[in-house]
Amino acid sequence: MAYNFNKIIDRGESNSVKYDLRSAIFGKPDVIPMWVADMDFETPEFIRNAVIARANHPVYGYTFKPESYYQAIIQWLQQRHGWAVHPDWISFSPGVVPALNLAVLAVTQPNDKVIVQTPVYYPFTSAVKHHQRELLINQLIFSENKYTIDYDLLEQQAREASLLILCNPHNPVGRAWRREELEKVADICIRNKVIVLSDEIHNDLLLPGYTHQVFADLSSEAAQITITAHAPSKTFNLAGLSTSSVIISDDTLRKKFRHTLEGMHIELGNLFGITASIAAFTEGDAWLDALVTYLSENIRYATGIINAQLPWVNVVQTEATYMMWIDFSASGLSDEELKQHFIHKAGLGLSPGYEFGPGGQGFMRINVACPRSNLEKAFDQLVASFA
Ligand SMILES: Cc1ncc(COP(=O)(O)O)c(C=O)c1O
Repeated sequence: MAYNFNKIIDRGESNSVKYDLRSAIFGKPDVIPMWVADMDFETPEFIRNAVIARANHPVYGYTFKPESYYQAIIQWLQQRHGWAVHPDWISFSPGVVPALNLAVLAVTQPNDKVIVQTPVYYPFTSAVKHHQRELLINQLIFSENKYTIDYDLLEQQAREASLLILCNPHNPVGRAWRREELEKVADICIRNKVIVLSDEIHNDLLLPGYTHQVFADLSSEAAQITITAHAPSKTFNLAGLSTSSVIISDDTLRKKFRHTLEGMHIELGNLFGITASIAAFTEGDAWLDALVTYLSENIRYATGIINAQLPWVNVVQTEATYMMWIDFSASGLSDEELKQHFIHKAGLGLSPGYEFGPGGQGFMRINVACPRSNLEKAFDQLVASFA
């Protein structure tokens, strides 16, 4: 079946964070928005049909998660990631960021030390600081245009930390961590009794040639220390439905997480999110394969334009996610100047790298999950802005 990712959807006046908050965020209502991580493609038809069918039932009362919800997640994780999950391990969370915060509350105490690997999606650091835990920055090493983990520093930090929040795959640097890399992380954390919160929200968005390694599936020892955050939201463009799950095989760890979750009475889930998840995970295979092909073509196109027209700009290889992570430091502009340059000279609404913490300075993150014609326009504007 063919899917039309070239179709332009008018997202204006739909209360879209990406579009309708442009004036508030960028001070300009007409920048091409390529920042927040949702896609400009239609949420697939089989999901919309399922939501519409449920919406047609005239009562939207309290709802619970049926067996088919758990089975849909389990089957998806087994088939796409080779991970065997038991239904009891799955808890609902109204989003992965809420799950990160819940996990911090559940498994650490105030003043405990929590490791994050910057540059990283900024709610990782705020989930630590907001709850008065101490942040330990394990900055990624950037060398020969590739990001790797600083294991020596991690080893030192793990001696005093209670938790590592891992971004697997990594947003914004686009790494799909290899099994060998994650095994080293697991070894350090197991020896030092550090719990690993593995945010795997981008687990389905691996570009051709790369595979996702589930952290908890490295070994039974790794599973015992891991909390996995998982969601259909990035894969199927459902972020507005606030639906994700947290998967924990270890009974003690799961009890702690559930205690915090249930203390807030948010474990029931929401009606449309549950309906959409079942449709996504039971019918989504072919659509996802087509999406990934389209995204990889977008990334190839954008990389080609930059390499040809702006050879002083350095594009980091995207292995996963639909974000490109691009080094503009050779422009000589400060972070503030770069930010203003992209808004006012290029007419683009991007995420400045410094927002992702130490190591992000001089970079911009560009969300390329949009129809090709919009991408072409955006990259034309980007190139012209430096003429
Ligand atoms: C690594 C990562 N985790 C979590 C989220 C957001 O999750 P949610 O919308 O479910 O809170 C994002 C969104 O960009 C992300 O990149």
